[in-house]
Amino acid sequence: MLSVHILTPFAKMVEAVVDESILGRANAKSFVNYLIYDLFNFADPPHYRIDDYPFGGGSGMIMKPEPVFRAYKKAVGDQQNSSLRVIFPTPDGEVLTHKKALELSKCSELMFINGHYKGIDQRIRDVLVTDEISIGDYVLTGGELPTLVILDAIIRLIPGVLNTYESAETDSFASGLLDGPHFTRPEEFEGMKVPEVLLSGHHKKIADWKLDQQKEKTKLRRTDLFRKYLELKSVEKENGENNG
Ligand code: ADE
Repeated sequence: MLSVHILTPFAKMVEAVVDESILGRANAKSFVNYLIYDLFNFADPPHYRIDDYPFGGGSGMIMKPEPVFRAYKKAVGDQQNSSLRVIFPTPDGEVLTHKKALELSKCSELMFINGHYKGIDQRIRDVLVTDEISIGDYVLTGGELPTLVILDAIIRLIPGVLNTYESAETDSFASGLLDGPHFTRPEEFEGMKVPEVLLSGHHKKIADWKLDQQKEKTKLRRTDLFRKYLELKSVEKENGENNG
């Protein structure tokens, strides 16, 4: 079972999301255990401040190191798991990819440290953090939403969490291509028909059509991904592999 520690000043916000939908079901089915630490519980009385002014001036407040280090110690306990990955979501981190989510989905213990205000004290990043991850080139007000985005991307890749693991294996990026179009009943809706080939029952033709659709979309929308896909395919060909 994967243990996920989340250190945050907004525990309720995180709890509300991890209790619901697939993240909640993954917990109910014992694939994952969420442990949420409210950073205010680790701050000093009487004011219980978790942020302070930046040394050297500048705008905005900085998260203090003590509450985070204390919560970290409480989370890891006496025996620290040497494979623990400590993730700090930040816009200056490496951009999240399917590959990274897959790598993290294989871990046994993860921790997320949620930053707020202008930033967190650099000593937290230097000493505790193993992975700094951005969810895109834009800035959010805190680390909770990025944590939940990263967590969602990870949890759905744990085999057994989704009803059919196949549905995670075939989605966008898993194959290096974007996902193609999907259709369900009715066959005709307001004059719009489902592509004939999908009703043919011809498995090979359907698979070829789906792959063509994925290639078309990727070529059109993400030339960077399409170039990588073609490179990978030509390497596979040289190695005599045949995966379509
Ligand atoms: N915190 C604020 N903005 C962020 C982003 N884009 N990615 C990760 N963490 C963040």
